[in-house]
Amino acid sequence: MNANVTIKPLGSGVAPGVLVSGLSRADIDDSSVCRQLRELWIDQGVIVFRGLSGTETHMALSRVFGILTAHPSGVSRNAEHPELSDIHFRPGDANVVEIGGKALGAWLPWHSDLVYFAEINRGGILRAIAPAPEGGCTGFIDQIAAYQRLPQCLKDKIEHLRVIYWGDFRMENARYGNVDRVISHSATGEAIIAKRDQFPRVSHPMVYVQEETGRKVLNVSPWFAQGIEGMDNEEGLALLDEVVAHCTDEQYAYFHQWETEDMVLWDNWRVIHRATGVDPGATRIMQRTTILGDYGVGRVVVDTPEAATLERVSV
Ligand SMILES: [Fe+2]
Repeated sequence: MNANVTIKPLGSGVAPGVLVSGLSRADIDDSSVCRQLRELWIDQGVIVFRGLSGTETHMALSRVFGILTAHPSGVSRNAEHPELSDIHFRPGDANVVEIGGKALGAWLPWHSDLVYFAEINRGGILRAIAPAPEGGCTGFIDQIAAYQRLPQCLKDKIEHLRVIYWGDFRMENARYGNVDRVISHSATGEAIIAKRDQFPRVSHPMVYVQEETGRKVLNVSPWFAQGIEGMDNEEGLALLDEVVAHCTDEQYAYFHQWETEDMVLWDNWRVIHRATGVDPGATRIMQRTTILGDYGVGRVVVDTPEAATLERVSV
């Protein structure tokens, strides 16, 4: 890397990730730099890149970490660059919820992307084109560290269990999220909700091992979680509640306050994330790449006849 590059921990030291500043566009074409960045990503889980800018650089930087895939849903796919998803919120847009008496646009609960499919993407880079003047943060919690914090008795209990997920996007139905009410669904949300019965039920292991390092990951996405496979009872739900409370403990979260042209990379196989939302009168213009991958341990539990033709969707 060039001599101007600095790498600093994000947050307080208990949260994941590093801030990389001073990287040049030329560095992204240097194979030695790319290798170092990939190692840093596997080690840290989250990298905030500050000082780079532009659509082409966003896509080139994303390709350092894998093959990009076009957004699976046509609704937010960028017309010019299909590898980019437009994540826009403007004054008057729908997609508003109420939490604690406050209306929030573009709010999302803790989740892993695409967890409602057997194959979940490796990661992505979110770029701020026009961040919200206030709020609009993205939170991250490392689930390798979360696993390490689990008491041994809970580690033993969940070692071979799997969580069932369903692509039911109705926020008001989510078991984990604490939404008081949904004020309005976006057109995208309505379209996805209309397809919910076509989604297969899938399951993912609660614990899996990061291939590159041998570290165990607490692999639970609170949003879309329906229950524990084979424990369709109060005991199963109580156990899931306990694990979710542990993995979403926000004292271990890093909340990124976006600056214009920040690009944030996360490892979708070990870090859960959420959007804190914006004032419904605010503007927030973001774009995200999706890095392809399959960790090979997700599986379909109950398929539906329609699922084979379902267009994949992503949030
Ligand atoms: Fe997401």
